[in-house]
Amino acid sequence: MQINFLKAYTDNYIWLLETNKEISVIDPGEATPVLNYLSHSKKVLKDILITHHHFDHTGGIEDLRKYVNGKIYGPKNDISSITDRVIDGDCFSTLDIKMQTIAVPGHTLDHVAFYCQEMDSLFCGDTLFAGGCGRVFEGTHEDMFQSIQKLKDLPPETKVYCAHEYTESNLEFALEVDASNHDLKKRVADLSKKMTANNGCSIPSDLALELKTNPFLRCDLLRDSLKDCKTEMDAFSYLRSWKDNF
Ligand SMILES: [Fe+2]
Repeated sequence: MQINFLKAYTDNYIWLLETNKEISVIDPGEATPVLNYLSHSKKVLKDILITHHHFDHTGGIEDLRKYVNGKIYGPKNDISSITDRVIDGDCFSTLDIKMQTIAVPGHTLDHVAFYCQEMDSLFCGDTLFAGGCGRVFEGTHEDMFQSIQKLKDLPPETKVYCAHEYTESNLEFALEVDASNHDLKKRVADLSKKMTANNGCSIPSDLALELKTNPFLRCDLLRDSLKDCKTEMDAFSYLRSWKDNF
């Protein structure tokens, strides 16, 4: 089993789980990159996994559904082509790999992440980003904070596959709030080399690195340096609002 990516729109990633004969795709915001890949690889589309209802994650479903040999897994929302609705704790298999659903509301209310223990991999859509976290559109800052806390508890070796290439701007913000963090400075210094080696992609990151460098996972440590923040949650909310206007 391999994990690869296709690019969509300006900065979306469609993650591919891939065997010799089949692929499953996560958040196909566009169909064309997937159809092109199926055509030149001669592989079969098994399943589609959807993290949340936003169009840049779901826009390809309608044109792909007739090629799906398995299921379309996704959360409870109004996208009718999802065949199998998943909620927090639900497990299912795709390409013989077990996925566990984790509810992570905040960016949207329906948002779920998919955790694959045997591959130490997390597909988290627009919840946790490399060096940052998603904007809070439908839930509350408290919802997003609790969702991020759940992801923090996964094993540190977990590879984090988020759905956008936002790493550079996220790390720019991180440096602004956590300027003395040596691990962060090293991460910034290493970023362009990593991207060059990976076809312009900075993903995956891993949870251990996020815990050391992502300010949204370090609210307990940053709290005292932030104005009027008494709790970890205060710090998270302060940082989220600051980043929204950064
Ligand atoms: Fe989104």
